Amino acid sequence: MAATGKPILEARALGLKFGAVEALKDVSVRVEAGSVHALIGPNGAGKSSLLNCLSGFYHPWTGAVLFEGRDISATQPPERARLGIGRTFQGIQTYPSMTARENILSGFHIRMRGGVFAGLFRTPASVRQEEEMTARAEAIIDFLELEQDRHRVVGDMSYGLRKRVDLGRALALDPKVLVMDEPMAGMSPEEKGDLARFILDIRDHFGIPVVLVEHDMDVVMDISDRVTVLEFGHVIADGSPAEVTRDPRVIAAYLGGDAATEDAA
Ligand SMILES: Nc1ncnc2c1ncn2[C@@H]1O[C@H](COP(=O)(O)OP(=O)(O)OP(=O)(O)O)[C@@H](O)[C@H]1O
Ligand SMILES: [Mg+2]
Repeated sequence: MAATGKPILEARALGLKFGAVEALKDVSVRVEAGSVHALIGPNGAGKSSLLNCLSGFYHPWTGAVLFEGRDISATQPPERARLGIGRTFQGIQTYPSMTARENILSGFHIRMRGGVFAGLFRTPASVRQEEEMTARAEAIIDFLELEQDRHRVVGDMSYGLRKRVDLGRALALDPKVLVMDEPMAGMSPEEKGDLARFILDIRDHFGIPVVLVEHDMDVVMDISDRVTVLEFGHVIADGSPAEVTRDPRVIAAYLGGDAATEDAA
């Protein structure tokens, strides 16, 4: 699916400080429906801070976060998850002693309607809901090619497989946009290739746009529709992969030169 030009998630002029450190300075990003949007930049550039502002874990001290055009700046992470902002974190977030299937099912609980009583008394609505959840979990397991591993305890799995279960948990929330912080860090080239394929399928088959932080430039160039480059808390470039890779400021940021920075200033 091609990007439609309509923003689903938007950061407007965000400013974020930790003491004297300005993690984000006037950062604006538009994530369009139907797109894979990569955030890149050197260590400490503010990429995770930006994702945390989008998902509500950090609250910027200036600027606004908009979801489907609505200002959600004041909302907390659970509310954003309910609205449809799904996310995966740097590292592993699965429960190691649970199976792949149980981990994915655990992702549904935030979406459960009916509350505690419906769950206790097994009302028709709660039974129907459980059946829906189970069917959806099975669909996610099939989609992520976890059929063989569904009943394996996650703690015994390879890193790449665990990250895949992690992704399944995020998908269980039925997100309208998926935010992923370095999903491929620590993966083998083969695992990276698999995940890249799943990310494109998430965009194309589920129609879910994906925002991700990624350091591997080959992956970024392969899968992104749009790339935003951060350096020292600033956006220094934003555009198609081809546009940003020939941007002198980006070249300077990655190669450590300074002549190109002056050209672009
Ligand atoms: N919770 C925090 N408390 C204090 N400082 C923080 C916090 N989170 C981020 N920072 C600081 O904000 C700046 C941006 O950090 P951030 O983690 O967003 O960078 P990043 O681009 O994700 O880097 P990396 O590629 O290493 O993950 C850094 O100087 C970092 O030390
Ligand atoms: Mg980070």
